[in-house]
Amino acid sequence: MNIRQLSVLENPPMELLLTADPSRQIVEEYLKRGYGYVAEMKNQGIGVYVLLPTRPQTIEIVNLAVDELYRGKEIGRKLLQHAGSVAQTLRYRTLDIGTGNSSIGQLALYQKYGFRIVGVDRNFFLRHDEENIIENGIRCTDMIRLSQDI
Ligand SMILES: CC(C)(COP(=O)(O)OP(=O)(O)OC[C@H]1O[C@@H](n2cnc3c(N)ncnc32)[C@H](O)[C@@H]1OP(=O)(O)O)[C@@H](O)C(=O)NCCC(=O)NCCS
Repeated sequence: MNIRQLSVLENPPMELLLTADPSRQIVEEYLKRGYGYVAEMKNQGIGVYVLLPTRPQTIEIVNLAVDELYRGKEIGRKLLQHAGSVAQTLRYRTLDIGTGNSSIGQLALYQKYGFRIVGVDRNFFLRHDEENIIENGIRCTDMIRLSQDI
């Protein structure tokens, strides 16, 4: 598997990007403001993430997604580690990520690889008109924000 930066001249793997954030407008905005990366196997995009500068010295992983057929094979972990080393190379000091309160697997994955919970944005998903997400039998209402020093 190879991970490379997406060029502004190519079509991004939109379907994959939209599995992590349902709004095409927001995904396009992230790609414009951030750095997109794609994981490929035999020239096929199987994973993506975008690194988005947010505050001074701080960058956030957004739109992390792995193709359904390839999940559970440590590609998500490799993308997180790749994002950490890109952020370090770019001289950022803090790496952020966020996920829904109902995303149990993602919360496990992020904490396993060094992220600590730093805050809860209560009612985030209700404010953003995403009122009907149910995962693991839990209604997704709040954004859990996690962070690590790099
Ligand atoms: C989140 C996502 C990127 C993870 O990618 P992945 O390649 O499947 O992840 P990995 O195989 O590297 O890691 C899986 C790890 O997640 C954790 N995990 C996943 N589901 C879990 C669960 N229900 N309970 C506990 N741990 C879980 C485990 O720690 C597992 O590690 P292990 O192999 O030691 O058990 C992928 O599931 C995905 O694309 N989901 C849809 C989009 C999405 O939700 N993106 C994130 C938005 S915040």
